[in-house]
Amino acid sequence: MSDGPNTRPGASTTTNAGRPVSSDEHSLSVGRDGPVVLHDAYLIEKMAHFNRERVPERVVHAKGGGAYGTFRVTGDVREFTRADVFQPGRETPLLARFSSVAGEMGSPDTWRDPRGFALKFYTRHGNYDLVGNNTPVFFMRDPQKFQDFIRSQKRDPRTGLRDHTMQWDYWSLSPESAHQVTWLMGDRGIPRNWRRMDGFGSHTYMWVNAEGRRVWVKYHFLTDQGNDFLPQAEADLLAGQDADFYRRDLSTAIERGDHPSWTLKVQIMPAEDAADYRFNPFDLTKVWPHADYPLIEVGRMTLKENPENHHIHVEQAAFEPSNLVPGIGPSPDKMLLARMFSYPDAHRYRIGVNYDELPPNRPRVPVRSYAKDGRMRSFAPDTAAPYHPNSFGGPDAGEQTGVDEASWPVEAGELVREAYSAHRDDDDFVQPRALIRDVMDDAARERLVSNIAGHMSSVADHGVLTRALKYWRDVDSDIGERVAAALNGG
Ligand code: HEM
Repeated sequence: MSDGPNTRPGASTTTNAGRPVSSDEHSLSVGRDGPVVLHDAYLIEKMAHFNRERVPERVVHAKGGGAYGTFRVTGDVREFTRADVFQPGRETPLLARFSSVAGEMGSPDTWRDPRGFALKFYTRHGNYDLVGNNTPVFFMRDPQKFQDFIRSQKRDPRTGLRDHTMQWDYWSLSPESAHQVTWLMGDRGIPRNWRRMDGFGSHTYMWVNAEGRRVWVKYHFLTDQGNDFLPQAEADLLAGQDADFYRRDLSTAIERGDHPSWTLKVQIMPAEDAADYRFNPFDLTKVWPHADYPLIEVGRMTLKENPENHHIHVEQAAFEPSNLVPGIGPSPDKMLLARMFSYPDAHRYRIGVNYDELPPNRPRVPVRSYAKDGRMRSFAPDTAAPYHPNSFGGPDAGEQTGVDEASWPVEAGELVREAYSAHRDDDDFVQPRALIRDVMDDAARERLVSNIAGHMSSVADHGVLTRALKYWRDVDSDIGERVAAALNGG
């Protein structure tokens, strides 16, 4: 907020250029009853700015809310990573944005959907973004399928309506979606609010320690408020009563000093385990059972401050899985690798080429990039000359050639379009079946059946319905039969 004279009570309204205006209510006119004139620059400015006051909403995750906070390291994971943000005792400022996926900007917060869990850590080595969800898995394992999947969840271009036939058609034709759909139809599909859900990095990432040793890692942000969900009927009611239920809950909690927190725990897989692990460790539709790789505590994230302006800090926030810092790398997960292209590309379109300079995205370390100019450039980089190499002491990367720190051995061969190589227990239905049988209790299974049957009840195509029932019988024969009975009114 400016503390200039214009914020004083009674100060004059100004144009965007700071010139005092003479009326907030009356346009400059030719006589009392005459037409308005083009040189009423204030009127023109008001109309023109209004016409441009939207940026396109995110193509997915359009509805969300966010807050600033910190991440404090409480554990000691130096053995696994040299990332500054995870060194013992370190406290790093961050921005979190929570969202739902398929609905538009104004859609009700309590619709059944996965929730986004996007974090931007302002580290001493630049921004580190972890762009995850409230589920540890996803609907597919190949990025080629993402766009089609999203279109099955969004509106039918013919009718402008969302359509459960499309959704079940896609899912039942894509058995690898079964694990995520089981999460979605279960209690985690509608958290009570954002404060009471867990967050996951979902993908497998790489950590590298000071000696250059690499491990594979999965992130779990466990809510300190306790996990809780909304039953379908309550969620439906709230969708009508308060479309912004989650956004309101988060900002009012922070406003009253009730700062939500999450404990970060990680699973670490030694690099040499990956080839023979019973599940392909880079398959985004799979978890690593905790019995195989137990949780190790890293630290705590606490949200403490509401943004002073939603558009500036939440709408213009640009998260990107490609923002990785020394000590953290990607993995052979094809979904993750594709996302590393997609997000910066989306930001350049949605916000503009210099999106990195906006307050929520601006790193809190010096930027010495040779990038130059472009729309809305407001920052002159300290590069001495606009090119490299130069003779004037401009920044230099030091040419660290050779094997990249965040690298892994790849099998040399032809370029192919193929499924991942299967590991011993890889099967699309094994893990959702275990989720239903081993994690859910009877009451949760009952709600699962009721949620699935309720969702499938509007599927209009008999073939799709039959295939969707087979999908559930493949996951768990008992659940499949109960869904069929519920759909038949049984
Ligand atoms: C947002 C693409 C998979 C989590 C987005 C956006 C795009 C996108 C284009 C909008 C970005 C913006 O305009 O700001 C993709 C592609 C995927 C993929 C191409 C797969 C190939 C995933 C997965 C997760 C995820 C697997 C979670 C594990 C998110 C979140 C946001 C988002 C949380 C919202 C970020 C924010 O709050 O601004 N995605 N996505 N996405 N995606 Fe993905």
